[in-house]
Amino acid sequence: MAPSSSPPVPRHVAVIMDGNGRWARERNLPRLKGHQAGAESVRACLRACQELGVTHLTLYAFSSENWRRPEEEVRGLMGLMKTFLDREEKVLHENRIRLRIIGRLDRIEPRLRDHLAQVVEKTRDYDRAHLTVALSYGGRAEIADAARRLAERVRAGEIAPEDIDEEAVAAHLYAPDVPDPDLMIRTSGERRISNFLLWQLSYAELYFTEVLWPDFREAHFREAVADYQHRKRRFGRSE
Ligand code: FPP
Repeated sequence: MAPSSSPPVPRHVAVIMDGNGRWARERNLPRLKGHQAGAESVRACLRACQELGVTHLTLYAFSSENWRRPEEEVRGLMGLMKTFLDREEKVLHENRIRLRIIGRLDRIEPRLRDHLAQVVEKTRDYDRAHLTVALSYGGRAEIADAARRLAERVRAGEIAPEDIDEEAVAAHLYAPDVPDPDLMIRTSGERRISNFLLWQLSYAELYFTEVLWPDFREAHFREAVADYQHRKRRFGRSE
């Protein structure tokens, strides 16, 4: 029997930042105010990761389904991404944090897409910490895109169908060099994965909290990590 052990600090934490709309509604504010307050929570989580030694953080900022939201809200969220880049790029350089963006970026407005690409490029050699932002992202789309790329490689004669195994699929995901998340946090009381990192979350520990995302700060992040540290991870093995 393989031994099980309490895990150390998670290497990679993935977060579904939920509850911005409800936070704003409770205060009679427009939804965008909730997203703005949520951007502060992003900064708080980055700080918590640095304090705790969590080296990889992935944030679900905008799902493929979010395109169905009112145009004004979509524009507001994209504006927040721009503000985030403007304000946080310095922090990325100071702390040698590599930024990655995952998702179908062809739908993102070209100016923002170029700005994102520039920061991704400028931080690509950093390896002290890794921030991945899922933008226009869907887990099924990511797997479908990997399947298409593999099929193209078969057609080009680069690989044979028999070469397609789990490792090959994983190698064709959007950020293949990022390790799978150890812990997935979802705020606001919802208990769903909502098409987030479907492949990568296979063995992640899941943590759900009632706290709304704009209220989620360093202390909440630390609580989630402490909860994770009490779990026994077995990866399908017996006790
Ligand atoms: C879900 O809350 C949240 C989002 C769709 C957007 C999350 C985006 C941010 C926090 C902006 C900043 C992000 C970065 C990386 C700079 P919801 O609107 O679905 O809330 P509700 O379920 O209460 O309506």
